[in-house]
Amino acid sequence: MCGIIAYIGARPCRDILIEGLKRLEYRGYDSAGLAITQTIGDCTTHVCKTVGRVADLERKLEADEPTLNGTIGLAHTRWATHGAVTDPNTHPHTDDRGLICLVHNGIIENYVSLKKLLEEKGRKFRTETDTEVLATLVSELYDPDHAKTGGMDLEAAVQAALREVTGAYAIAVMSTRDPDTLVVARKGSPLIVGIGNGEFIVASDGSAIISHTARAMTLDDYSVVRLTRDGLRTSTIDNVELSPKVMQLEIELGEIELGGFEHYMRKEIFEQPRALRRTMSGRLNHNEGCIVLGGLLAHAKELVRSRRVIICGQGTALNAGMVGEYLFEDLARIPTEVEYASELRYRNPIIEEGTVVIAVSQSGETADTLAALHEVRDRGALGLGVINVVGSTISRDTDAGVYLRVGPEIGVASTKAFTGQVMVLTMMSLFLARRRLMSGTDVSAFMAELARVPDHIEAVLEQDDEIRAITEKHIGRENWLFLGRGYNYPTAMEGALKLKEISYIHAEGMPAAEMKHGPIALIDEGMPVVFIATKGAQYDKVMSNIEEVRSRGGHIIAVATEGDEDIRRVAEDVIYIPECPEPLSPMVAVVPLQLIAYHAAVLRGHDVDKPRNLAKSVTVE
Ligand code: G6P
Repeated sequence: MCGIIAYIGARPCRDILIEGLKRLEYRGYDSAGLAITQTIGDCTTHVCKTVGRVADLERKLEADEPTLNGTIGLAHTRWATHGAVTDPNTHPHTDDRGLICLVHNGIIENYVSLKKLLEEKGRKFRTETDTEVLATLVSELYDPDHAKTGGMDLEAAVQAALREVTGAYAIAVMSTRDPDTLVVARKGSPLIVGIGNGEFIVASDGSAIISHTARAMTLDDYSVVRLTRDGLRTSTIDNVELSPKVMQLEIELGEIELGGFEHYMRKEIFEQPRALRRTMSGRLNHNEGCIVLGGLLAHAKELVRSRRVIICGQGTALNAGMVGEYLFEDLARIPTEVEYASELRYRNPIIEEGTVVIAVSQSGETADTLAALHEVRDRGALGLGVINVVGSTISRDTDAGVYLRVGPEIGVASTKAFTGQVMVLTMMSLFLARRRLMSGTDVSAFMAELARVPDHIEAVLEQDDEIRAITEKHIGRENWLFLGRGYNYPTAMEGALKLKEISYIHAEGMPAAEMKHGPIALIDEGMPVVFIATKGAQYDKVMSNIEEVRSRGGHIIAVATEGDEDIRRVAEDVIYIPECPEPLSPMVAVVPLQLIAYHAAVLRGHDVDKPRNLAKSVTVE
């Protein structure tokens, strides 16, 4: 959701900005624009923007500004919140006096009252956006002649403007009168500053920075950074100077490139065995029969004594959290609930002593999850993170946590992050189980099975052609059901979510038993119904549910355990997965469902990696 890239240094920045925008495309957007400061004729700051793709912007730039190539600029991919998807509403935004040029990710919640105040001062607006209001507010406070008059320079004007603002923001700001200063700031929305040799590259995430430098500075909420070609100054919006926090970006360029695959989603589905091996690497101590999670050690005692676990997240992360609910109760015997972060945040949650909240998030930037985490920590809960992106906001705002280590996920439809999240939640539940009730021998036996999960996934991936053929048979169908029980109820939810997200086919996921209580009315001749019918405690019950669907004409696609011949009697299509303990089966059973969604989207001719309306990282509540 909204991507920011900005540059100040010695190099012409046109290509740097365009390349950065392309790297940020995966976040989801509907329009793109950039501004570069360079004196051509009377004009200093040149803005080019358009609805559509970055490639459209590139073409427009070539046609309108063929010689533009200054050494300071900012650019943006917009995912509309305030105002329709139109060229004028696209960022960058300038003010009516033409002093300030600004890009923004987030929502200025009090923009209506600010706009009114500014209108009373005679300021004019041309767009429906909250961002134009912010640009105008900075312009109102900024004095381009500050060197002579002692008025506010750009940094001071941004600080003062942000003191008036409520809401969330990551911004990059330039003055059209000062080609030597770039000011950036954040609260709630992601932004990092890449530190190069005599240059700075500011971006919403590391993927747009890594080809230039691996050194990056993270920004805390309410911080403002003034960047010049000579260095940087970090302060709060109240102008209290801060020392910069620098980290190394742990991204390799190869990880964010397609590497011969047609789509990122496909690459990431196929990467899962390797990614999960990395998630486990160094964390399974077979000799002592325990799980080693360095990030949790400092809180181990508190965790062992915990009385209740609440897992929260959104989208795929929530589905992974649902598997976590089964794992924590089943293996570690701790009462566990799973809840949408967006709901947890606003329902006045009861947090008693001994409550642990686990925030699950691939990006570590999801606004709902972040807000829920802040809320429960304020109420005294221990806040843990299960996060993929190192150094992300949620990872920094938790008491402790465990990283997924699955590498950058670019495809908007989350795949390897789901299996990584389930893997980490499995390891966390074993970490606790070993300290509460499970013997070293039992944990060792379980870990041996865990270590085989990547091999099982490889066996599923080998059936890619068959899975494509099964999907093709039903490609004209507009309604699908995904059903499972127990551990594989969340798997069914995730299968339905994947199909909706990228193929735009209506799909529902639910517990197989629930189907009888209403959704069964939807089943008509030939409706594809995917059952996760692996061997486990509720296998017989699932078989009965299959019969119920079959007798109403539904077309059964079963994900079943290798060697199960009975299933062939009732299912038209069977996708086999290797036998594994039930708690581990979601990580394997979800893979055919990811492939069904992928093939459905490709067969329908959709842009798999950039599905309509979706954002990879949803940074507004
Ligand atoms: C968005 C994405 C989903 C993702 C969800 C949570 O809706 O499109 O794929 O599952 O956000 O994201 P997170 O980064 O917190 O896991």
